[in-house]
Amino acid sequence: MKLCAILVIMDVNAINKALDIVREQIVSAADLHELDALKKQFMNDVVAPASKQIGTLAPEMRSSAGKVLSEAKQQFEEFFTPVKEKLAQVEQSIALESERVDVTAVEQIVPLGARHPLSVLQEDIAEFFRSISWRIAQGPEVDAEWYNFDALNFGVDHPARQMQDTFYLEKANQVLRTHTSPVQVRSMLENGVPLYIACPGKVYRTDELDATHTPVFHQCEGLAIDKDLSMANLKGTIDAFAKKMFGSSAKTRLRPSYFPFTEPSAEMDVWYENKKGGAGWIEWGGCGMVNPNVLKSCGIDPEVYSGFAFGMGLERTLMLRHNIQDMHDIVEGDVRFSRQFGFES
Ligand code: FA5
Ligand code: MG
Repeated sequence: MKLCAILVIMDVNAINKALDIVREQIVSAADLHELDALKKQFMNDVVAPASKQIGTLAPEMRSSAGKVLSEAKQQFEEFFTPVKEKLAQVEQSIALESERVDVTAVEQIVPLGARHPLSVLQEDIAEFFRSISWRIAQGPEVDAEWYNFDALNFGVDHPARQMQDTFYLEKANQVLRTHTSPVQVRSMLENGVPLYIACPGKVYRTDELDATHTPVFHQCEGLAIDKDLSMANLKGTIDAFAKKMFGSSAKTRLRPSYFPFTEPSAEMDVWYENKKGGAGWIEWGGCGMVNPNVLKSCGIDPEVYSGFAFGMGLERTLMLRHNIQDMHDIVEGDVRFSRQFGFES
């Protein structure tokens, strides 16, 4: 029932009736919002019209009518205020409960990752070469056969092309690079001479994954082209690099070998102290003096310039350095493997 319907004239009974009705409603109000709406309704429907009516009464009746109205307002407050306080308390405790933080709850632990030792190794290598003022060069992993083979002096039908088992792409003359040596060619063509670059990067071969091979692996290429470079410069450079990789007592030795892009060519072995089974020699990579045909392919006069190059496998470097027995551990990406190297991030 609407309260104003009761209040036809400024009448004590009508006001009391309105109070009775609103009291019942207040007692059953569900929340503060509903309660405030009831107060607003009482003010609008009872108090405001009654005050207005008082203004229309004969002056001698106004004071008693005013008294009736102010008593009604007081009564309203008397039952309204305690209900409001109670509801406010209930709402506050509901809010507190819902926002409660359980400081004893067990934390959900998200395991931390770890940087892969190969990534860290590539950074170490880059840092070493920068420290001797070489530049770090990069090239594409999908490359033209010309860069990967032809410019490196692999003849079209040369058996040396079979030395490396190649992933050929459907697109004519494109391969997944089988070594980082094509970066030699790109760097010579792009930057000219003199040139001192190192290139750590990913390479691909159709090898099966086993304890010592993986179809996707990493190499680091080194190339220096200048006037008057000799095998002595090559030896000095890879000795310094070996010390950086394997400790200060490490050294290298060269054994004659063959690569189409170097002449003479050598296998390089490294000697280091904490080799598994005791200090000793082990094969680390290939190297040599840049073949004059490669210099010519890159527009460099071999009568004026000479150079040396080397390349080694990074998985192999890591296996040697840390006595890792199985290539699977390096490629499988189990974070427990990476954590052993202290590279936890
Ligand atoms: C080369 O790839 C030459 N480009 C290296 C070079 C550069 C010689 C500059 C002269 C001058 P080779 O095919 O031997 O060489 O590979 C070099 C190294 O890559 C190997 O010693 C080995 O450590 C690593 N390697 C080769 N195949 C794999 C494989 N399937 N998985 C992991 N490492 C491999
Ligand atoms: Mg080899």
